[in-house]
Amino acid sequence: MDELIIHGGRPLRGTIVLSGSKNATLPILMASVLTAEPVMLSNVPRLGDVRTALALLGTLGVEHEWLGEHELRLCAARILSHEAPYDLVKTMRASFVVLGPLLARARKARVATPGGCAIGARPVNLHVSGVRALGARIQLRHGYFEARAERLTGARIWLDSPSVGATENIMMAGALARGRTVIENAAREPEVCDLAAMLTAMGAQIYGAGTHVIEIEGVERLHGAQHRIIADRIEAGSMMAAAAITGGEVSISNAPVEQLEAVIAKLKEAGVEISSENGGLRVAARGQLRPVELRTLPYPGFPTDLQAQMMALLARARGTSVINETVFENRFMHAPELCRMGADILVKGATAIVRGVAQLSGAQVMATDLRASMGLVLAGLAAENETQVSRVYHLDRGYEALERKLAAVGAQIERLKDDSAE
Ligand code: EPZ
Repeated sequence: MDELIIHGGRPLRGTIVLSGSKNATLPILMASVLTAEPVMLSNVPRLGDVRTALALLGTLGVEHEWLGEHELRLCAARILSHEAPYDLVKTMRASFVVLGPLLARARKARVATPGGCAIGARPVNLHVSGVRALGARIQLRHGYFEARAERLTGARIWLDSPSVGATENIMMAGALARGRTVIENAAREPEVCDLAAMLTAMGAQIYGAGTHVIEIEGVERLHGAQHRIIADRIEAGSMMAAAAITGGEVSISNAPVEQLEAVIAKLKEAGVEISSENGGLRVAARGQLRPVELRTLPYPGFPTDLQAQMMALLARARGTSVINETVFENRFMHAPELCRMGADILVKGATAIVRGVAQLSGAQVMATDLRASMGLVLAGLAAENETQVSRVYHLDRGYEALERKLAAVGAQIERLKDDSAE
């Protein structure tokens, strides 16, 4: 398994260009199942999770072809299988949003239940109750959800919590249902909006994406479309934190500023200088960082996917910060690894107390999940001496060319490839 070797203490300076959003790409790839015509996607990031999603779609009969570095053509002319196998779903739980499209297009689906992951139990009850409300007969047998439906019928669905994946699954199922579907307490994330934009380009009739109430008027069929994936707001926040933690000054030329309001506000509160620049952002940190109180929330609140990155940053603030993780039940796995680098963090249930320290020291650390890994990389960028981050495959799932982008703005970071059998 590859490792990243980082020599910290070098302020980052220069310009970073974000890749396409992982969390917009994954459901949009699954949406290709909804039509027999080709769809053309641009600004698609080259990520581990994208490869997994394409492998899953391939088992269903969806053909794909890379037309350029980030341009992808997909075509589900014929659905050859209705089964999303466990070995793919367990490696990437976002595969579960293939359920809605398969049901809508092929009227049946057999999707492995994803089970938990490092950050929590990650149930799919809201997905299941959602498609059941649309008329699907669905049951769990031998670790797979088996679902069938003649034509789905629109319904009013209340989500107990604004689940991103459940909103996406129901929106895609409702696109081809008979009649109107209304999703109440829908997720408002920008990635949900980008999926809605793609579906609309395919001929779907969707209203209210980005608000708590999304209405979908089902249509008979969807056609091919072209779509450009939005920039990755979580990569943006991660790179903003990288500039801040190293005391550098970085421009992020394609930052989706309007999607980063909570992040910008919190970083400014911590003493980071952020200004709009040519449609992107300029981020600088000169003085000592200040402690803050942070609570993760569904969008537009502070994103849980940036909590680990903020913890690394606040580990160097002058004072004590409090982080409350409200979205996932086990998303502090990065805390003990940061403590091995000299951070002073006390975790009590869903709250972490972060007492700032003057310096972090490089160490051997292990990545546990995608965003925790990024927190360790950020700490390594600030720490004195060398940090070795193992299990880098976690990072490769969600960050494209990370060490190349960081090295281009002055980080001393390199990948030790491990070509032995993994
Ligand atoms: C999406 O996951 C993202 N992944 C996650 O990003 C992100 O952390 C999460 O949304 C929250 O913003 C993708 O978009 C591919 P949820 P998702 O359903 O859809 C509970 C990353 O690092 N819940 O909004 O799985 C669930 O347990 C990843 O890029 C139910 O109880 O998130 C969690 O506590 C990590 N029942 C909360 O809702 C359900 O049926 C939010 O989950 C579904 C979810």
